[in-house]
Amino acid sequence: MKRFFYMVGMLIFVLSFCLMVYYGKETFYVENKATTENVYDHHIVLITEEVGNDYWHLIENGARDEALNHNIYLEYIGPKRSDNDENLQTFDRMISAKVDGIIIQGLPGERFKNLMDKADENSIPVVNVDTDVPDSQRKAYVGTDNYQAGFLAGQTLIGDTSGDQFVGVVVGMFDALNQQDRLKGFKDAIATVNRIKLVAIEESNITEIGAAQATYSLLKQYPNINALFGTSALDGIGIAQGVEEMNPTTYPYILAFDTLPETLELIEQEKIAATIVQYPYEMGRLAVLKMVELQQKRTVEPLNYTNTGVVRKETIKNGEILQSGDGF
Ligand code: BGC
Repeated sequence: MKRFFYMVGMLIFVLSFCLMVYYGKETFYVENKATTENVYDHHIVLITEEVGNDYWHLIENGARDEALNHNIYLEYIGPKRSDNDENLQTFDRMISAKVDGIIIQGLPGERFKNLMDKADENSIPVVNVDTDVPDSQRKAYVGTDNYQAGFLAGQTLIGDTSGDQFVGVVVGMFDALNQQDRLKGFKDAIATVNRIKLVAIEESNITEIGAAQATYSLLKQYPNINALFGTSALDGIGIAQGVEEMNPTTYPYILAFDTLPETLELIEQEKIAATIVQYPYEMGRLAVLKMVELQQKRTVEPLNYTNTGVVRKETIKNGEILQSGDGF
């Protein structure tokens, strides 16, 4: 009998010990999680046009570096392939999740403005990066003055060429507001001379392959095209591929946008004549900085234009930009 009670006692002891260890671990884990969540002062979301896009990675890098300086938890999210609907859904979800602030590219349409209103009603500040929607509740814009950048592209084409130029343009997305502004600036600039005509415009879907296909169809349909302009980061690279494939008797003048390594390489190889420079790293950095000011309830400047410039072969050495015209 004594032995039986002894055994039962032992069993109860072992069981309680196991339970203590298990629940103790659980309690510790929860506390640990809570501590991690409390480490950051703010949770900011950067919604990208395309997660894997190299241009957007530069914006992300700038944002991450600045976030580190201010103890901010920065989340970088967006669609695999550019998709406005998915971006709008993500924007809505982040408002519902009540994050502390949202950095997003300005998108076309009423739904975007309605979501900006919703964010404002929920006291979530929104900063537009890369593309501005000035008639919305955005607290600030950080990025290129896209109309001016397009105008600069037009001036560059005028300065670099002589004689009649029949221009084919490859835009990233027809409905992207920054592409529309660049195109408008470009058209206004070339309208100041008689010898340059815009022949046709095609869309690349912001992919290299899309730009190559667009170039192919432009050159096939309009064999008189002797100049090509790509208005988003991968277009110049795709244009050069498309031209190579078509192998026209005279190599056209190619003007690109942005300074991704492959574009600089193609400029060094004299396949692309020049590119319009943007500062995506600086955009990401400044966007977070503006967000920090907003979190501190400080007044922020609504328009924060980053620089633009032109890079040609003379200003690149082994893939590095040495100096350039405007903006450096
Ligand atoms: C534009 C971005 C776009 C990117 C595409 C850049 O020139 O500013 O809006 O997402 O090109 O690669």
